[in-house]
Amino acid sequence: MNSTVLLTGAAHGIGRATAIALARKGYPLGLVDRDAGPLQELATSLRESGAKVATAVLDVSDAPALATAVADIETALGPIEVLLACAGVGSLTIAPRLETSVLRQTLEVNVVGVALSIEAVLPGMIARGRGHLIGIASMAGYRGFPWMISYSASKAALIAYLEALRPGLAKRGVTITTVCPGFVRTRMCDHIPYQRPVKMIEPETAARHLVRAVERRPRNCVFPFDMKIGLAILKYMPDFAFDRLMRYVGPRALHVDF
Ligand SMILES: NC(=O)c1ccc[n+]([C@@H]2O[C@H](COP(=O)([O-])OP(=O)(O)OC[C@H]3O[C@@H](n4cnc5c(N)ncnc54)[C@H](OP(=O)(O)O)[C@@H]3O)[C@@H](O)[C@H]2O)c1
Repeated sequence: MNSTVLLTGAAHGIGRATAIALARKGYPLGLVDRDAGPLQELATSLRESGAKVATAVLDVSDAPALATAVADIETALGPIEVLLACAGVGSLTIAPRLETSVLRQTLEVNVVGVALSIEAVLPGMIARGRGHLIGIASMAGYRGFPWMISYSASKAALIAYLEALRPGLAKRGVTITTVCPGFVRTRMCDHIPYQRPVKMIEPETAARHLVRAVERRPRNCVFPFDMKIGLAILKYMPDFAFDRLMRYVGPRALHVDF
């Protein structure tokens, strides 16, 4: 019997594709999103193909709604063994047009929303002595991307949050996976005005990697393969070289000035 997975951000993009892929493998799914129509549509089509699905329409920054959703989903499908926290937002933010409201909103969803999702499932996981928490980070969290300032800050915070949680939860049987996808063709990427076509993978490809992460519980899950190389280069690039790259190459990559 497969573990029950709670998947946030299930209505669109990577979350939606992963829900479909997990349902095909027989995982019972608790699907969460704030976008009711597409979420219910997805749930109906998954149920028609035989999947066990429960849904909750909520904002991941709403802790009481998350607690109620977890209780309802566990009543319907059994204990949640895996959290796949996919809900996230990202938008163009560039200097000097800094908008603190965007920063707040981005941190609220990408960091606090993931933390609250974890808090909602963690007591049950600790009581059972097992569980798996999966957070979706980004390359933009490992180095600051000057066209996504708020997003970069939120993903850097998420990476550190998951890393800092890891040892304390490992000894309680709870594993943490930090995911770093390359560019994935979703609405989030549509909003970024790149000058040249950017190589993107399809959400279904991202979903295959995420299903493997659910099954294998790695510490890190970086995909596609060339992203592993790109991330390693970015992480270990000397600061002066990174600053130069972003200052000179960055503005040429986008239809915006910064
Ligand atoms: N696409 C990429 O290239 C890429 C790369 C690296 C990391 N990621 C990360 O992957 C995750 C999924 O992104 P995606 O590209 O699939 O984006 P997406 O297509 O925009 O899907 C995100 C989903 O999350 C939902 N959501 C957003 N805020 C929410 C909230 N407060 N409460 C509940 N649901 C919420 C959205 O609902 P609404 O329709 O209401 O907004 C949407 O259904 C994000 O964490 C993103 O940062 C994406």
